[in-house]
Formats: sequence, structure tokens, C-alpha cells
Amino acid sequence: MAEEKDLDLSGRRAIVTGASRGIGMAIAERLSRNGAKVALVSRRKESLEDAAMKLSGETLVVPANTSNSEDIERIVPAVVEAWGGVDILVNNAAANPVFGPLVDLPVNGWDKIMATNVTGPFLLIQAAARVMIAQGKGAIINIASIGGLEPSPMVGAYCISKASVIHMTKVFAMELGSKGIRVNCIAPGLVETKFAELLINTPEIHQASINRAALQRHGQPEEIAGAAHYLASDSSSYMTGQVMVIDGGVRY
Ligand SMILES: NC(=O)c1ccc[n+]([C@@H]2O[C@H](COP(=O)([O-])OP(=O)(O)OC[C@H]3O[C@@H](n4cnc5c(N)ncnc54)[C@H](OP(=O)(O)O)[C@@H]3O)[C@@H](O)[C@H]2O)c1
Repeated sequence: MAEEKDLDLSGRRAIVTGASRGIGMAIAERLSRNGAKVALVSRRKESLEDAAMKLSGETLVVPANTSNSEDIERIVPAVVEAWGGVDILVNNAAANPVFGPLVDLPVNGWDKIMATNVTGPFLLIQAAARVMIAQGKGAIINIASIGGLEPSPMVGAYCISKASVIHMTKVFAMELGSKGIRVNCIAPGLVETKFAELLINTPEIHQASINRAALQRHGQPEEIAGAAHYLASDSSSYMTGQVMVIDGGVRY
């Protein structure tokens, strides 16, 4: 079969947050396999180094807490110093440290969720976009959730944060389109990762979430990575400000 050149990421410089495991690691692997140099970001250096060893191409390990603005300030300069620019940003790291009714959520739980899921991605888009504007090109992909499209019980603040990510995608897409920068997001359903452990290991939730999906199963991280590859590549060159839902057929 002929190779599709517009999916080739050779020479592209990518940043993937939350790249040490789960969906972020699958995206990092996929981008790397298709030619991109990948800067892997998450809090733990050792886990990042382990993940980087599994990638085929050039990598950079950038330990940083994406809920901390000082840490975020270091990420883009580190990549620019190593590779001279940034072509792809995948905002994937997120947190959901609380489970319970929104009415009982302490403000520190709210602040933690918003810092990691909303403020961190926002600051990183600002930093990457400044470099991409100078280049005249770039692709930004935010990982949201179907929880950002419709509310789920017990994870209210997380759902609100992901709705913010979806709208942030649209606003940045509108502002940055004329500069050659595309901004899209992916809204996964339940994907089998450490993040979703609690849901997957609770038998009633496990079965209920399978029953809700037309495909009658949970997703795997690699099934999100293909969409990120498409959105990062020239194959999606006329697409911006959009939400790709990948949930096995939960929402229509
Ligand atoms: N799994 C699902 O069912 C599901 C569904 C919908 C949406 N999502 C979204 O998909 C994305 C990835 O989730 P996942 O399921 O792959 O989670 P995961 O397996 O738990 O991985 C999370 C990654 O983010 C990193 N991380 C967490 N907090 C961080 C912080 N403050 N700063 C920097 N890195 C941080 C983690 O590494 P360290 O802990 O070492 O920092 C890890 O690399 C998230 O945006 C999540 O909301 C997941």
C-alpha cells in the first residue's frame, strides 16, 4: 500500500504532557514511530526515562509538574534549545483527585483540578503558540473527555474542567487560525489506564460503562493515539476547533 505523505511527521518537534504512561505514552510512541522528535513531560523523571527508552526516535525528557506555572515556563524553552522550535503540542496530563458530589467539594480539590486540567494546558498553549506564530505553523491537540460534553456523577469538577478544555480549544483555534496554527481536541470515553483504575475496578461501573458503549468494551490507549497522530499531521490540514469523540459509541 502506498505511504500517505501527509501522515509523515519526520522532523516535527512534539511536546506530549503526561507521556510517562497511559494515553500520553501511547501518543508519544505513535508520533515517534511516524518520525517526530518527542519531548516527554510528566512529574517523575525515572518514569519518563523508562518511557523514552521505548520510543524509536529522538526524545527529550522534561520533568515538570503541569499544575505549576514555574515548571511550565521551563518546558517550551527546553525544547526550543534542543531542537530549535515546536511543531506539535499535546496537552494530555490531567488529574481527578476527588470523587463525590460537587456540593461537598473542598476548594483545594477544585483548585487542584483546575490548575492541572485548565490553567496548565492554557499556559502551555500560550508558550508554544508564541513559538509557532513565529514559525507560521503548528498543531495543538488537547485531551478532553466525554465528561466535558455531558456531566457524569461524582466527578463534577473534572467534567467542568474538561468542558473548559473543549471551549479553550475553540477559542484558541479561532485566534490562532490566521497564524497557521490548528487547535483541536479529543474527547475519550473510558480508556483502560491507571487514571481510570477506580472506575474499571468497581464491578458495577465497569459493566455499566461497557453496556453503554455500542462496541461493548472499554478503549485502549493506542485507540486514542491514532486520532492524535491524524490531528498532529498535515492529513488534518483543514480541521481546527473541533472535538473528536472516541468512546466506542456512547454518545451520538
Ligand atoms: N483513561 C480514561 O478513561 C480517560 C477518559 C477520558 C479522558 N481521559 C484523559 O486522558 C488524559 C490521560 O489520561 P490517562 O488515562 O492516560 O492517565 P494516566 O494513565 O494516569 O496518565 C497520566 C499521565 O499524566 C501525568 N501527570 C499527572 N499529573 C501531572 C502533573 N500535574 N504534571 C505533569 N504530569 C502529570 C502522569 O505522570 P506523573 O504522575 O509521573 O506525573 C502520567 O504520565 C487525561 O487528560 C485524562 O483526563 C482519560
